[in-house]
Amino acid sequence: MGPLHPLRGPNKFKLGVFSTNADGGLAITDVPERWRARWDDNLTAVGIADRAGLEFFLPIARWRGFGGKNQVREWSFETFTWAAGLAAVTQRIGLFMTVHVPIVHPVYAAKALATVDYISGGRAGLNIVCGWNPQEFAMFGVKIGDDAYGQAAEWIEIIERCYGAHQPFDYAGKHYQLKGVVSRPASIQVPRPLTMNAAFGGPGRDFAAKSCDFLFSPFANIEDGRKHIGDIRERSLRQGRDVGVYTVCHVVARETQREADDYYERYAVTEADHAAVDNHMAQKKEFANSHDKDAFDLYRKRFAGGAGTYPLVGTPEKIVDEMVRIANEGYAGAALTFVNYNYELPFFCDRVLPLMEQAGLRVA
Ligand SMILES: Cc1cc2nc3c(=O)[nH]c(=O)nc-3n(C[C@H](O)[C@H](O)[C@H](O)COP(=O)(O)O)c2cc1C
Repeated sequence: MGPLHPLRGPNKFKLGVFSTNADGGLAITDVPERWRARWDDNLTAVGIADRAGLEFFLPIARWRGFGGKNQVREWSFETFTWAAGLAAVTQRIGLFMTVHVPIVHPVYAAKALATVDYISGGRAGLNIVCGWNPQEFAMFGVKIGDDAYGQAAEWIEIIERCYGAHQPFDYAGKHYQLKGVVSRPASIQVPRPLTMNAAFGGPGRDFAAKSCDFLFSPFANIEDGRKHIGDIRERSLRQGRDVGVYTVCHVVARETQREADDYYERYAVTEADHAAVDNHMAQKKEFANSHDKDAFDLYRKRFAGGAGTYPLVGTPEKIVDEMVRIANEGYAGAALTFVNYNYELPFFCDRVLPLMEQAGLRVA
């Protein structure tokens, strides 16, 4: 066994940073300070998060952008190699890779993931996504199948067997037929690095319940959390397992509520990249089941602000109040996004983290 993964650490409400590897982060905005996701930007951001004791850094898996003025998300770093680079320059933060099951072969994924687990000394994590964007899949000549999570179940089983098998093995599944598979080294973490599944719908939840350590899932309103958590709990109990749930929020933390509201309005409404917001929402609505249906009508600002995730906008006190409510609904933690991570993470870490400690969400 390697050292304890940060997601197994003591904090009641764990925190991560999501999507620094991609242009815009999760925002779709034209403000001049919008996130460019250059390598130096990523290095600075992970350094801040690592030193502050945040638990994880989590990339988005994107292969093409959403057009508009800035071709938002078109620039994005591939996530195994991104995590490998960050693993070498950090000390304690968990480093996830977000991997599309239909695009990346599991034997390749097993070796790449084990490599990052070695570089990081057991801090690797795998965020499994089945994906939704047919234009991205067309780049690989892959069609979205109607048994995406059946494939995902075989995919993760193969990775586990790669690590556990002491002899070459054959695999005869519906989606994979493999001969004489070996993969050394196995990951440091046993039986494999921590896994999350990013999903919203029933089949994704069942897959997470059966095969992953955590589900990564959004909500539209905090009060809906209990319903989502209850549902995933039921599904995981049926599997005899206990699967934690992480969520995702976009953050604008400022000294005053007025400043936070004004900035949110500016970047996500007045200076949003409107054409890209239209494209993103239209594509997500048609192809992805990752949000409540009415979210598209109600929350255009949230799509510009953070791809339809929940907004934490306000003073440090207000943000911590909301996090207490999210934790009380049963979430294990949240992955956070910012317009410009490097301008905003220091304020967040300096001002919000101590209040989280006072509120009993985190230990110093
Ligand atoms: C929190 C979250 C993060 C996601 N991240 C990605 C991603 O990085 N790349 C991607 O192609 N899809 C991503 N997805 C989409 C899922 O892979 C999936 O296609 C989508 O949620 C729709 O199907 P579902 O019903 O299985 O959730 C994400 C979904 C959620 C809920």
